[in-house]
Amino acid sequence: MTKGDVIYEGKAKVMYATDSPDKVLVYFKDDATAGNGEKHGVIQDKGIINNKISEYFFKLLKTNGINSHFVEVVSDREMLVKKLNMIALEVVVRNVAAGSLAKRLGLEEGTALKVPVLEYFYKSDELGDPMLNRYHIMAVDIASLQELDEIEHIAFCVNTIMKDNLRAKNVDLIDFKLEFGRDEKGKIILADEISPDNCRFWDMSTHEKLDKDRFRHDMGGVEEAYKEMLTRLTM
Ligand code: ADP
Ligand code: TMP
Repeated sequence: MTKGDVIYEGKAKVMYATDSPDKVLVYFKDDATAGNGEKHGVIQDKGIINNKISEYFFKLLKTNGINSHFVEVVSDREMLVKKLNMIALEVVVRNVAAGSLAKRLGLEEGTALKVPVLEYFYKSDELGDPMLNRYHIMAVDIASLQELDEIEHIAFCVNTIMKDNLRAKNVDLIDFKLEFGRDEKGKIILADEISPDNCRFWDMSTHEKLDKDRFRHDMGGVEEAYKEMLTRLTM
């Protein structure tokens, strides 16, 4: 596999072309942003850890019947994935109130939700990622009803599989964000990454945060939290 030109550089990753037209190389950076890009920083070795944690979850999902874009890890910070036409949605699943949901509904962080909640946000930096519902998504042709059914089915399966796996590591899956794309046949495929950048992980006993909220809220111990998650998953 040959690494080609940069196709896209985002806030946390760089996508490179490869000699295979249907595959791209994802390079995981240490850069971290929060608050729609207002806060910038570096989390030492985050790229290496997120590459490994994403590999762990994509493999776990595959074992449990959920396909993703993941092909293989090729270096410390690089992963080969299927090239997809990305759908401009952030799909958030929540088990416990935290972050923007706690704020919006006036709930105390940590309040258990009676059923998992699924939310859509429009992936648009210019608009500040506004929340959408199914009608908005269909009205502006971001995705069809059948595609949303498939996305929701996959997202809730991912939730069950990850929650069960993390319970054995004494970690509560509070919430997470997924992204999806279409392959050359139009099939919906899970993409992007699954890491402490886009999930909330709390220690089950102490409720200590083991994710990017430590960076978002200047809590300290950011690198240690990412390392701790990798250790719990892979040791
Ligand atoms: P952002 O674009 O939000 O700054 P990143 O720095 O994580 O995010 O950049 C990664 C980009 O690659 C994202 O825009 C994401 O939607 C996109 N992406 C993720 N998986 C794939 C894939 N399999 N094929 C093509 N693009 C992808
Ligand atoms: P929120 O509570 O801030 O809406 O975040 C919900 C989940 O989505 C949380 O696990 C963090 C993740 N997330 C991202 O991955 N990217 C984002 O841009 C935002 C706002 C949240």
